[in-house]
Amino acid sequence: MDRIEGRVAVVTGAASGIGRALANTFATAGAHVVLADIEQEPLDAAVQRLRAEGHRVIGVRTDVRSQGDVRRLAEAAMNEYGGVHIVCNNAGVSSGASFSSIPLSTWEWVMDVNFWGVVHGCREFLPLLRDQDEGHVVNTASMSALVTQAPSMSPYVCSKFAVHALSECLDHELRMADERIGVSVIMPGPVLTRMMDAERNRPDGVPAVEPDAARRAWRDGMSDAMRNRGLPPETVAGQVLDAIRTRRFFVLPHPAEALAAVERRLHRMKDAVPAGVLPVGDTTTD
Ligand SMILES: NC(=O)c1ccc[n+]([C@@H]2O[C@H](COP(=O)([O-])OP(=O)(O)OC[C@H]3O[C@@H](n4cnc5c(N)ncnc54)[C@H](O)[C@@H]3O)[C@@H](O)[C@H]2O)c1
Repeated sequence: MDRIEGRVAVVTGAASGIGRALANTFATAGAHVVLADIEQEPLDAAVQRLRAEGHRVIGVRTDVRSQGDVRRLAEAAMNEYGGVHIVCNNAGVSSGASFSSIPLSTWEWVMDVNFWGVVHGCREFLPLLRDQDEGHVVNTASMSALVTQAPSMSPYVCSKFAVHALSECLDHELRMADERIGVSVIMPGPVLTRMMDAERNRPDGVPAVEPDAARRAWRDGMSDAMRNRGLPPETVAGQVLDAIRTRRFFVLPHPAEALAAVERRLHRMKDAVPAGVLPVGDTTTD
């Protein structure tokens, strides 16, 4: 999608962090933006700030866990702008502990936001993108879609693997059908946002998980990573804009770490194959 100016972009999780940076970046590039978030006050503040800069934007309080809410978000976008070209399924949360200590409701919350939120976004917006000359779906996964060595993070890691897989399936299907809708998946390592404070959105009925040794170790590691390698969310948003313009699937804000993670897995898989079984030469089929 060469031209962003005059297009309509919908961003979930737009009141903070990567989502807010995406909304700012699209607006600055001349798009009309629909900001969606579960947190009303920060959402209103983000909308006001963009309007004060002269951008045409609206805000719609949305809980991406709810198919009905995401449908109403799509309807609000259509009522305001008459079409949608870009949808960013970005809202996400994180919670966890050692596997045996994670309540079922925590699994459900993290999967409902991180995975089902993306499913609802893709299902509700795909028909609207098809009505345009071209469109683009952006799903926010994480480096955690490639790396499983993250103590206390099982629900988050599983949800992000699922977002990665869903995005690849969708991209493949749209390319096979020669549709003019691109798909990108974002897989960042540490980005300087409020993600460490994601439990602020923990719904009623989901108990606070007492941080155990694994969780404390994760928090310490994450704080270090943020300090040493944390990217500004605007950097990620700029890379997303470029991926939309060039119809690139992978957005890898920390490319060396992402590729190293994939190579580690490939080596473990190759190690699991008995000697002499692997065919010689290029075996890629994609
Ligand atoms: N920050 C990082 O280091 C990092 C790394 C990899 C991936 N990510 C992913 O980036 C995405 C954005 O997170 P962020 O880092 O900007 O964190 P953030 O906490 O700053 O922003 C997340 C936003 O999602 C919103 N949200 C939470 N639950 C919601 C719901 N049910 N419905 C709608 N909105 C909801 C929050 O209110 C918040 O505004 C997430 O999917 C996260 O998993 C973040």
